[in-house]
Amino acid sequence: KTARVVFSGIQPTGIPHLGNFLGALLNWVKLQREAPLDDQLIFSIVGWHALTLPQDPHALSVARREMLAVLLAIGLDPNRSIIFHQDENPHHTELAWILNCITPMGKLRRMTTWKSRLATSRNARDESEVDESMLNAGLFTYPVLQAADILIYRTTHVPVGEDQQQHIELCRDLADNFNRTFKSQHPLFPLPQHVQTPSPRVLSLRDPSAKMSKSSPDIQSRILLTDNAALIKAKIRGAVTDPIVGVTYDPEARPGATNLLTILAACTGKEVSEVATRYHDKGHGKLKADVTEAVEEVMRRPRAEFEKLKGETEYLSSVARAGISKARELSEVTMKEVRTCVGL
Ligand code: ADP
Ligand code: NA
Repeated sequence: KTARVVFSGIQPTGIPHLGNFLGALLNWVKLQREAPLDDQLIFSIVGWHALTLPQDPHALSVARREMLAVLLAIGLDPNRSIIFHQDENPHHTELAWILNCITPMGKLRRMTTWKSRLATSRNARDESEVDESMLNAGLFTYPVLQAADILIYRTTHVPVGEDQQQHIELCRDLADNFNRTFKSQHPLFPLPQHVQTPSPRVLSLRDPSAKMSKSSPDIQSRILLTDNAALIKAKIRGAVTDPIVGVTYDPEARPGATNLLTILAACTGKEVSEVATRYHDKGHGKLKADVTEAVEEVMRRPRAEFEKLKGETEYLSSVARAGISKARELSEVTMKEVRTCVGL
């Protein structure tokens, strides 16, 4: 069995919320704990992707540094995993350009992320007036940059959410297309596999018909990694449930109660069915109290670590420097071969 190269990334667009934490970040820590030692683990803070939407430059530069502190605070170990800022490695954009040149426009137009952006901009104004010219080209081609992020390290495994499935398929297509178009002695890029990690979908505490998201204007709808025990308690107490007596797992009819069960199961490492059985004759008050305790339990340490680390700018810089140097060492080898393949 050959060693895996595992790559995943997160945008530096603010302090992660409970959904990001339970749905994505905790999986990274678990992976780091369980992966055989010869697996190469690479986690990236993908600053260039953040620019596909308007960002306040100062806020972005703060968020970028804070995300590194977050990754360390949750337990990623820079001695085991390569942790680095994507925007410090120009090889990503260099490869992205080359991949752009073999990517059919039609394929990008079929990306559901692009289609939903188009739909949003269409609703916002007179339907007949709106076309792609309202959206920037970066947003259109960001799946290609994402493919470059993955392929530049000859990644074999990509643990990301279900919503990213289509992008990973595009990435495989591009890798295959490149391998066929530019024949080297051996296929240059492995076709990376999407690793479907069982990750809970955490819903908004205020509107359980939507997922918990940083884009909601209602700050009560999400729990942030930086929220203290009192804030966590208040937000969970304010979570929207329903007037039905008892607690049942029913995503369709009872999304609020179901969301609380999901959160409790994820925080305690239990099956949601098991948790649901335990609460079927209990009230929402008891459930909320226990969810509050469980969330505080998983958040306490990362929160304290983050508070400690976020001011340690020297240490954070040194971790970033070590990370980028390891990342570039790998990407340089790939880029050399890529350039030879295409004739540059
Ligand atoms: P947001 O949707 O808040 O903008 P991102 O799109 O930056 O968050 O997502 C970062 C990671 O967190 C992705 O892997 C995504 O699948 C995961 N994630 C985001 N929101 C949730 C949620 N509500 N429940 C579970 N996972 C989530
Ligand atoms: Na999102």
